[in-house]
Amino acid sequence: MNIKNAIIKSPGYVIVKIDNLKILDKLKNKFSKKLNLNVATNNFDDLRVKMTSMSKSEINNIMIKLLSFSEAAEMMFDAFKVQIKKLAGNEIFLQRRANTIFNIPGKNQRRQWPHYELMSGISPFTFVLWAPFHDLDDDGGIFYIDQKRSFRMIKKEHAKGLVNGPTILNMKFNEKPIKLKYGEAIIFNPFILHGNVNFNSKKARMACSIRFQSAKHPLMQKNSDFFKYKKIS
Ligand SMILES: [Fe+2]
Repeated sequence: MNIKNAIIKSPGYVIVKIDNLKILDKLKNKFSKKLNLNVATNNFDDLRVKMTSMSKSEINNIMIKLLSFSEAAEMMFDAFKVQIKKLAGNEIFLQRRANTIFNIPGKNQRRQWPHYELMSGISPFTFVLWAPFHDLDDDGGIFYIDQKRSFRMIKKEHAKGLVNGPTILNMKFNEKPIKLKYGEAIIFNPFILHGNVNFNSKKARMACSIRFQSAKHPLMQKNSDFFKYKKIS
């Protein structure tokens, strides 16, 4: 089965290898500089360790700093260009701002509750590409529920008139987060339930994600504030 079929039909997600690792290295360096935490930018592990001792308000400040990280989307695109073109053709809508996401180990830390991307108003034709900035050697990654099971749960809530409501949010998932290597990414469709768990580690987890779709498909709720049109040569 080709990767497009795996993403659209079953299981709904696929792991891909990066097309240009140097660009992801560059993105990581820019990200480190932006954080301005007095850690050598070539020592990403130190940065990850330092983040674990930060307070919630310091983390909030970092998130505000990252709002100006507008080059991240184009860099993610360049790093995974071949895969994106394979999946969405040479005319696409690309998310204007990539999401840079970090998760701190330990209990009582913020985490992504089980959700599916469609709830944020992207179209059913949008794919999400998520890449960690380092090997995932602990449980700091994300778990994914295959399409069949995700649909079953979505339909269960739909019958009660709910979208990503308490049935899904309170559900206990036993899935283990997928352990990706640096230079790998997961691409998944917007119906796939996913989330992350509280995890134990000496280091924070950092990752970047980008959304894209073929320009031949409608955007529906999202408009050009969120996506930009792009022709791929
Ligand atoms: Fe998500």
